[in-house]
Amino acid sequence: MAELFLKNVSKIFEDGTVGIEEISFAIDKAGVFGLFGPSGSGKSTLINVIGRIEKPTRGEISGNALKKRRAFIFQNLNLVEDLSALENLEIVGRLCKVKDVKKKSFEILDRLGLLNKANKKPRELSGGERQRVAVGRAILVEAGLILADEPTASLGPTEGRRVMELLLEISKLGALVLVATHDRELSQYFLGEIYLKGGRIEGLRGEVRGVK
Ligand SMILES: Nc1ncnc2c1ncn2[C@@H]1O[C@H](COP(=O)(O)OP(=O)(O)O)[C@@H](O)[C@H]1O
Ligand SMILES: [Mg+2]
Repeated sequence: MAELFLKNVSKIFEDGTVGIEEISFAIDKAGVFGLFGPSGSGKSTLINVIGRIEKPTRGEISGNALKKRRAFIFQNLNLVEDLSALENLEIVGRLCKVKDVKKKSFEILDRLGLLNKANKKPRELSGGERQRVAVGRAILVEAGLILADEPTASLGPTEGRRVMELLLEISKLGALVLVATHDRELSQYFLGEIYLKGGRIEGLRGEVRGVK
């Protein structure tokens, strides 16, 4: 079975706007994959439908990746503002019933280079540091499907690379990571790419198969 399989998936919003239309593709292995397209082309809609934040109007979504735990990384607003970096990890770990949450949260902060920021609130962290905490959350819950919607859009190039390298690391442990982005420079991290235009697939590259 494919890791992720979509067949004729459409999302038409209540007001009649087409979010995505007749999207079909298959991904057969873990890795980091890119989702490109101009603003309004349906990237966020596709991310949300795969992540089950939104229900597709039509079509089939299946695959082993859907059986695993999901994690989301958005451009902004990933963290609870009133909680420290450490607490932002702990709360998600507790909700997912992760064992030894405190110990693991500290280990992850250390691995992210954020041990000295454990007690800082999100507003006291840089954009890149906040995104790293969001990636840390995915590591803590051992997410097998990570949906990242423009995760580097508000970061400088160095911080952006750092976040992408972390995502690459997680994917090597077996996670499928889908990254919506405008940034062609990120192509170097992608095993395969999906190009959207006007809600439809315009092209597929690399390890993303077309589906008839
Ligand atoms: N909740 C919604 N209700 C109606 N239309 C929406 C909604 N969300 C997105 N859209 C529309 O769906 C299309 C795709 O949007 P989106 O998926 O956000 O594109 P992208 O992330 O590529 O910029 C756009 O025309 C957008 O205006
Ligand atoms: Mg978007």
